[in-house]
Amino acid sequence: MSRALVVYESVFGDARAIAHAVADGLSTSVQTDVVSASEAPAEIDGDVRLLVVGGPNHALGMPRPTTREGAVKQYGAVIPDTGAGLHEWLETVRLPRDGVSAAAFDTRGSGHPMLSKMDHAARTEEKLLHRAGAQVGAPAEHFFVADTKGPLVEGEEDRARRWGRTLAELVASSSVGR
Ligand SMILES: Cc1cc2nc3c(=O)[nH]c(=O)nc-3n(C[C@H](O)[C@H](O)[C@H](O)COP(=O)(O)O)c2cc1C
Repeated sequence: MSRALVVYESVFGDARAIAHAVADGLSTSVQTDVVSASEAPAEIDGDVRLLVVGGPNHALGMPRPTTREGAVKQYGAVIPDTGAGLHEWLETVRLPRDGVSAAAFDTRGSGHPMLSKMDHAARTEEKLLHRAGAQVGAPAEHFFVADTKGPLVEGEEDRARRWGRTLAELVASSSVGR
């Protein structure tokens, strides 16, 4: 049976909440697992048809060691290993040989409309997915937080659930998936 896998990085819990909401939406028609990048497998099983990845925007991009250290120093975040996250996982993950479809999301601040329009974390996630051999089959989605440490803007988890359902329909209709 085919499955979907959602892999996330989250410092303050917002991207984790979005990842679980997306998984809820996907679960309406596809068996879906959700896991943090630090616990994600180094090799993805062949029955995974759709891989969804996502995490926060940090300094106009994906989190990296320096921005994670910044989150610890500036905002008191607890990050056991600032050298490991979604970027690092995507650089080394081995995907099924016969291909996997993928979609990316990010979370971002809602306070700066111009900045919010910039699309760096999800765009880099898509590049890394492509480099790993995945086929990006749906446009990236962006979810807003009210402040650096959250919470998510009202309605964003519902929007993530709907996006998950849309991705599930795409898998079912084979627009996404092989
Ligand atoms: C070090 C750091 C840098 C950040 N840089 C940006 C940024 O460039 N653009 C933005 O929209 N949000 C930025 N933020 C806010 C994060 O996007 C926000 O903390 C995140 O989306 C919350 O998700 P999380 O709870 O899963 O960590 C930054 C946050 C931190 C800690």
